[in-house]
Amino acid sequence: MPTLTVTTREGEERSVPAEVGLSVMEVIRDAGFDELLALCGGCCSCATCHVHVDEDFLPLLPAMSEDEDELLDSTSDRDARSRLSCQIPFTDALDGLRVTIAAED
Ligand code: FES
Repeated sequence: MPTLTVTTREGEERSVPAEVGLSVMEVIRDAGFDELLALCGGCCSCATCHVHVDEDFLPLLPAMSEDEDELLDSTSDRDARSRLSCQIPFTDALDGLRVTIAAED
């Protein structure tokens, strides 16, 4: 199975199996990282699934919607690698994807 590597806010890094078809948020949540709150359940309305994506993978991600862009603007930790993990469907092409959970707002 493909893997996703997650770095927590404390800097702990862990690779977890990632099921194709789930969102990156669902993979992180199902692996038990409870610091990723994902309060809206993936509806693109809370921004608590904010992650920073490894630069090498940015070109492989789907384009950002206007809603995602606006929500990210409401966060304090936004940078050029910011995405909402619920808006990234995990695919085979993303095997080895590395993300860091963003600071809490
Ligand atoms: S889970 Fe709420 S925006 Fe992603």
